[in-house]
Amino acid sequence: PRGAPIEEAMLAPPAVPPPIHRDYPARVIVRLETREVVKEIADGVRYDFWTFNGTVPGPMIRVRQGDTVELHLKNAADSHMAHNIDLHAVMGPGGGAAVSMTPPGHESVFTFKAMRAGLYIYHCATPPVPMHIANGMYGLILVEPPQGLPKADREYYVVQGDFYTTGAYHAPGLQTFDMQKLLLEQPTYVLFNGREGSLTGANALTAKVGDTVRLFVGDGGPNLVSSFHVIGQIFDNVNVEGGTLINHNVQTTLIPAGGAVTVEMKTLVPGTFLLVDHSITRAFMQGALGQLVVTGPAAPAIYDKVSSGPAAPSPAATPMAHAAAPAAAVNDAMADGKRVFGQICAACHQGNGMGLPGAFPPLAMSDYLNANPKGAIGIVLNGLSGKITVNNTGYESVMPAFGTQLSDDEIAHVLTYVLNNFNNKGGTIAPAEVKAVRA
Ligand code: HEM
Ligand code: CU
Repeated sequence: PRGAPIEEAMLAPPAVPPPIHRDYPARVIVRLETREVVKEIADGVRYDFWTFNGTVPGPMIRVRQGDTVELHLKNAADSHMAHNIDLHAVMGPGGGAAVSMTPPGHESVFTFKAMRAGLYIYHCATPPVPMHIANGMYGLILVEPPQGLPKADREYYVVQGDFYTTGAYHAPGLQTFDMQKLLLEQPTYVLFNGREGSLTGANALTAKVGDTVRLFVGDGGPNLVSSFHVIGQIFDNVNVEGGTLINHNVQTTLIPAGGAVTVEMKTLVPGTFLLVDHSITRAFMQGALGQLVVTGPAAPAIYDKVSSGPAAPSPAATPMAHAAAPAAAVNDAMADGKRVFGQICAACHQGNGMGLPGAFPPLAMSDYLNANPKGAIGIVLNGLSGKITVNNTGYESVMPAFGTQLSDDEIAHVLTYVLNNFNNKGGTIAPAEVKAVRA
């Protein structure tokens, strides 16, 4: 019935609540709970997040312009902090914060009318505000115009945030919040949806060739402005700053801290497209990387390879030389080596180990590497520069040192992984050998 209140579905990101098909304003009940939870921020790295409903970002809220929202804010009994909520869709003091300060174990309720269509950030506004936001307390609320949004085949929900941990990027174990880094605005991690890998691999966003994909993208901050870009795509429509102004054919769109944007794109070509903050260090060295995997028929009229570099060995043709070794430890070392390769080496030497002509030498079938496998220990520990020749091709570039970022185990594992893949000649590097070179 028309007058009955509607319970808002509270979904975990990147899920988006379904479009609204109502043609009348309703009372919408939104239930949020602030929870302080320890979760992984990256593989092997844990962080004490402060959240709405246990996720970063909190659930996306979707209402219609003219709706009255009845917002219930609970603070879990085991919280250490009071929390509240400021929704940028609210017209009133503090955006709700003035009437929602909630101690642990309590609940606040307030109502607001969604006056203006748009895509808005919500966040905790409890002092110290930057700390509550830096710990993950934000999300998006979409206020649909009365006529709704145009139909899209896929909708996803992504929020960027900057995180400040005492340990360096990828330093393992439980990391605590670093106030000094926050003040300097020098984050350790810049992330989509609060975790490195939240939108990659098995968690990648998906679409089919020919789909219209709509992303609701926010920037929780607390500090950094996002230069949001999808590598290999052009945004057909961008609701600039989350408002009603629509721009077309946009490559990269700015999202202010505490702002949002709706982007729509047509996926015309199959493949993997990378979501990045095009302040690109953040994408490749601080975690702000996601994937949109598009499947379907190739579209050579739009995108086609004519010729390039030497042919890559097919993955099927590169069995691991030592795959017969039964010990679980060997498999663990290989799995860890594969992980390190994917997280560090592949950025330059490429996922197939073929490198990039003129820039990064191949690790696949590398005569340089296979002639002196132990020499690679020093290369990974200390970096490499100057002229070298790999498979009859000269390189004169710089590889950074990874001695502080990677442990002896990790370096041993990644080199063992490389030596036993990509048609290399096999062999093992032991952690003790790395230790000896490091000393
Ligand atoms: C060279 C391994 C990460 C850039 C080399 C070489 C090895 C190697 C064995 C010697 C040449 C060859 O055999 O092809 C690794 C491993 C990595 C890693 C195991 C991950 C732990 C990276 C990254 C970059 C990079 C992330 C780019 C930022 C280079 C460059 C050279 C090189 C430019 C040639 C240096 C020169 O011209 O003197 N790497 N690498 N490497 N690597 Fe890496
Ligand atoms: Cu809070």
